[in-house]
Amino acid sequence: MTALLQVRGLKKRFGGIEAVSNVTFDVNAGECVVLAGDNGAGKSTVIKMISGVHAPTEGNVQFDGSLLTGRSPEAVRSAGIETIYQDLALADNLDPGLNLYLGRERTRRVCGLPFLDRPEMRRNAVEVLRNLGIVIPDPSAPVRELSGGQRQAIAIARAVHWQARLVIMDEPTAALGVPEQREVMALIDRLKSKGVGIILISHNLPDIFAAADRIIVLARGVVAGERRPAETSDEEIVRMMMGATL
Ligand SMILES: Nc1ncnc2c1ncn2[C@@H]1O[C@H](COP(=O)(O)OP(=O)(O)O)[C@@H](O)[C@H]1O
Ligand SMILES: [Mg+2]
Repeated sequence: MTALLQVRGLKKRFGGIEAVSNVTFDVNAGECVVLAGDNGAGKSTVIKMISGVHAPTEGNVQFDGSLLTGRSPEAVRSAGIETIYQDLALADNLDPGLNLYLGRERTRRVCGLPFLDRPEMRRNAVEVLRNLGIVIPDPSAPVRELSGGQRQAIAIARAVHWQARLVIMDEPTAALGVPEQREVMALIDRLKSKGVGIILISHNLPDIFAAADRIIVLARGVVAGERRPAETSDEEIVRMMMGATL
């Protein structure tokens, strides 16, 4: 069986710095792969080379058997990979419905002129969120009034609604309170059960062990090792993050 995502020999140089060297891994459908590593290890740079934000200096990425490398972030998204960045990329002044359709707005024609179909987008947003077990008290309120967990849920709902087959999350729980962190972790489980592949970036050990089918540890831009949660321990993962050779 070919993996859903195949990352092969990725390297990224920024000026004189080699931020990422020879990173290779696979993600299967319905599998959560955690990229773990200390600050500056190269985690965000790796996912930006997958999502089309950075062109790799060397290496390539295949998704569902076709080459992703060289495509724009929009093209990668259309191919079925949704990336949820740490700073979220929601439009704070818009309601959840408009955020769900951001960049893909639905319009209807009135007297031949296109208008945003806000009620339709809002209804769909409420429905998608309800299917994820999230109730938004006022669907017409701008998302800036929502909690961090609800905002994260909208970003995840966007991935579900557009039927992403791979969801990449860069530190999704870093800015959240404990109950909201639990909500996001439960959403990850639901995505997995729908067969969606997940790449989760985290340096929170309980999250890593709760979510991961496989843990890939990056240290100073290289893969320090790969483990299944059942065959390793907090101590070993921390040692690998610190760059101990195995
Ligand atoms: N756009 C950039 N220009 C120059 N250096 C960068 C850029 N992005 C990241 N880096 C450097 O690459 C290294 C890895 O960064 P990053 O991928 O953000 O790490 P992580 O997400 O694991 O904290 C760091 O040394 C960082 O300073
Ligand atoms: Mg980062």
